[in-house]
Amino acid sequence: GQGVAMVTAVAARLAAHRRLLEETLAPFWLTREQLVALQRQMREAMAKGLQGKTSSLRMLPTYVRAIPDGSERGDFLALDLGGTNFRVLLVRLASGGVQITNQIYSIPEYVAQGSGEQLFDHIVDCIVDFQQKQGLSGHSLPLGFTFSFPCRQLGLDQGILLNWTKGFSASDCEGQDVVYLLREAIKRRQAVKLNVVAIVNDTVGTMMSCGYENPHCEVGLIVGTGTNACYMEELRNVASVPGDSGHMCINMEWGAFGDDGSLGMLSTYFDERVDQASINPGRQRFEKMISGMYLGEIVRHILLHLTSRGVLFRGQQIQCLQTRDIFKTKFLSQIESDSLALRQVRAILEDLGLPLTSDDALMVLEVCQAVSRRAAQLCGAGVAAVVEKIRENRGLEKLTVSVGVDGTLYKLHPHFSRLVEETVQELAPCCEVTFLQSKDGSGKGAALVTAVACRLAQMTRV
Ligand code: GLC
Repeated sequence: GQGVAMVTAVAARLAAHRRLLEETLAPFWLTREQLVALQRQMREAMAKGLQGKTSSLRMLPTYVRAIPDGSERGDFLALDLGGTNFRVLLVRLASGGVQITNQIYSIPEYVAQGSGEQLFDHIVDCIVDFQQKQGLSGHSLPLGFTFSFPCRQLGLDQGILLNWTKGFSASDCEGQDVVYLLREAIKRRQAVKLNVVAIVNDTVGTMMSCGYENPHCEVGLIVGTGTNACYMEELRNVASVPGDSGHMCINMEWGAFGDDGSLGMLSTYFDERVDQASINPGRQRFEKMISGMYLGEIVRHILLHLTSRGVLFRGQQIQCLQTRDIFKTKFLSQIESDSLALRQVRAILEDLGLPLTSDDALMVLEVCQAVSRRAAQLCGAGVAAVVEKIRENRGLEKLTVSVGVDGTLYKLHPHFSRLVEETVQELAPCCEVTFLQSKDGSGKGAALVTAVACRLAQMTRV
């Protein structure tokens, strides 16, 4: 009698938990209609941005007019700022292939969020250290600066930082030319002269580096700490740059898509929480639903909610879950990896101090899946909008195009890339899209942009 009653009570509780879990995750399941609508909104925002009308997509001209043709040669320095680390690279483009030597330097949070002077002094210190270690002191190699933030460019070697994104907020940089800030820091440090030739967004670097081997590569995509895309647009469609023939690579800054409120329908309670707790509330709303800097936070907020409803961790309020950024996005990749049995999932979570039952482990897995699947689908809808735009630009019935991709989330997550590709296929059926993962895209790409610029400069000098 009593035993049966208890079993029934337990079963009823489990069923209630399951219902609550499903209700919580329901808004993360996007319908085909929602994705189609998103793709359409993205197309509209692209068109407005290109025409110079108010739009959450800035559609920034990059002054990169062609993908490389494989003939680029020479030695270049490259800087890469904008992901988790800062890197200095020596890139040798030779007929035998590309050779890269690089060194990683960390940018502590107090520097990324301190004063601009301090940040650029730190960057110059790293360059000087690299030059010494590589025996390059005294040489002034042409330098390409991969600077992965929104910049208004007036040429290849000039970029006004519009606003910081991701984890950066260094003072007195917004509204300034980044190349100028770098040159000033070099003066302050009385370091050797650097020959800054080009400033490059990481999406552009990635497109260029894949384009070195594949002439169809006309889109660059990053899904790492942040997310963004660039692509080759017809110059006649770019209102802010004179000229009617030829192409120009456009940095979309799609992380800011929806900052005008147009993503409202898709944004959940948890997205709002993550946004409000970030250093840039109201901004980069699309990025905050997709990229590595935020997915772990979305999961953490869902877990907090489920705990408060008694669904997880026997309803015990767990202190560590209150800590921001404790749930790293790499845990999503690990937890969702098929080769890891649920037992190992439990081990990962127990390391965090989360006392799990097996039901808990399964639910945490489902939460991770819901969050990463939505991210991949949103990203896929964005790519679908881009390739369809290219196809229509050219009046083609069928477009064959490649997308150069970089970023830890895209590369390391076990299902993300497949879901992006499936979504693109579904939403852009007239485009045959190949995804090429770039190796060291930002560094190699910056060198390639620099090489092309040097070649053009030499041509005009002759
Ligand atoms: C952020 C930056 C953008 C960059 C992207 C990926 O969205 O604003 O410039 O491309 O992160 O790193």
